[in-house]
Amino acid sequence: CERQERRLPKQRLLVVANRLPVSAVRRGEDSWALEISVGGLVSALLGVNEFEARWIGWAGVNVPDEIGQRTLTWALAEKRCIPVFLDEEVVHQYYNGYCNNILWPLFHYLGLPQEDRLATTRSFQSQFDAYKKANQMFADVVNEHYQEGDIVWCHDYHLMFLPKCLKEYNSKMKVGWFLHTPFPSSEIHRTLPSRSELLRSVLAADLVGFHTYDYARHFVSACTRILGLEGTPDGVEDQGKLTRVAAFPIGIDSDRFIRALELPQVQDHIKELKERFAGRKVMLGVDRLDMIKGIPQKILAFEKFLEENGDWRDKVVLLQIAVPTRTDVPEYQKLTCQVHEIVGRINGRFGTLTTVPIHHLDRSLDFHALCALYAVTDVALVTSLRDGMNLVSYEFVACQDSKKGVLILSEFAGAAQSLGAGAILVNPWNITEVSASIGYALNMPADEREKRHNHNFMHVTTHTSQEWAETFVSELNDTIVEAQLRIRQ
Ligand code: G6P
Repeated sequence: CERQERRLPKQRLLVVANRLPVSAVRRGEDSWALEISVGGLVSALLGVNEFEARWIGWAGVNVPDEIGQRTLTWALAEKRCIPVFLDEEVVHQYYNGYCNNILWPLFHYLGLPQEDRLATTRSFQSQFDAYKKANQMFADVVNEHYQEGDIVWCHDYHLMFLPKCLKEYNSKMKVGWFLHTPFPSSEIHRTLPSRSELLRSVLAADLVGFHTYDYARHFVSACTRILGLEGTPDGVEDQGKLTRVAAFPIGIDSDRFIRALELPQVQDHIKELKERFAGRKVMLGVDRLDMIKGIPQKILAFEKFLEENGDWRDKVVLLQIAVPTRTDVPEYQKLTCQVHEIVGRINGRFGTLTTVPIHHLDRSLDFHALCALYAVTDVALVTSLRDGMNLVSYEFVACQDSKKGVLILSEFAGAAQSLGAGAILVNPWNITEVSASIGYALNMPADEREKRHNHNFMHVTTHTSQEWAETFVSELNDTIVEAQLRIRQ
């Protein structure tokens, strides 16, 4: 029976996301170097054995010529990746424009473009058109590779128009859509000029998922208040058709982090870091350099802490890893300058000839270096102004089983709903509160640290990314079976 089971073909899962988990760099006319990034989604699906996943997305590179497109498609096929080719103008209007200058800030409660961003508001319609065009291009590629019985799982705010395009191709396609950011209050969503079109398009999916119950509730409210549809305990109903809406909190592949800590190179790295920062408590921030992450506010809170606690000045260091992102968007360029200026000022103010209070890196670290850093950290600062979930908080907890460090966590990160009991929750806008929490965390007795850590560790190691992906996909299968039964009745 076991042998028979093994021979059964696995159900195919087409994972559609803006970016492929592989980035490509051109080495010659027909040669490509591929770099795999094992992000949350990739490790989630690596652990799911029932499905055979294929990825469809943008390779993050402009390939105008046919030879290049053909050779890159072949190279990616080995990694089970299928590229969508977007030209520079579409990327500019769809990715830099509509996705990252309109939807991203809006969904994180930073509002629609104002003042100097007004120029973008004027080109709103052309950006929305490019967004629809790009989504249609994704749909074309999905349709080309779709086989009957496949499950299509669309991801994130880049692809809100995709469920509608896919169902227009084939109304029987099983389509799920998951949002990795917050979905804002309906009062925020209603300011978006294309609010109704986007909601209707998402509702074409069979299952719509969010990280938290609150985001799901906001989405249902937006559909009832803006579209006048009916919200039910299961989702949203439109003329007898139910779209299931539910919360599926994502996790991490915690074993991968725990196992990495045993590796000799990680142990060596831990030893080096311990020697380097001996006699000082280590505080850590790991963020993409994005305005939603609250990096300036965090650093200002640290400055306030140093200002008011002179005896800690040479006993604590803040390591801030700020990974550059979306560097073509002007708001991100301004943020980089702002952060550099604040860090420089504080280091000038509190540094000595041999030490500085803040080590700021504008780059990412490799996986092993990151694990070592998490392991030697005494206090992690995750102070996003808004965040869909924030998996840095999970990664830190997974690497802390021997140290039992403290997590300071923004109440506006989705993770606050799962790690809230173990973390110190803060309002990141309140610099006085964050500064006081730093003091509390640094002075926390060992038994309280242990109790808090154990709570979080239990959550992080049981609610994994694999469990998340399995739950979403099996719920999507069930949703479709239920819908078919309802039609037959
Ligand atoms: C967020 C989004 C993801 C996105 C990631 C990196 O986490 O929810 O969809 O992939 O940021 O952003 P980037 O614009 O570099 O792909």
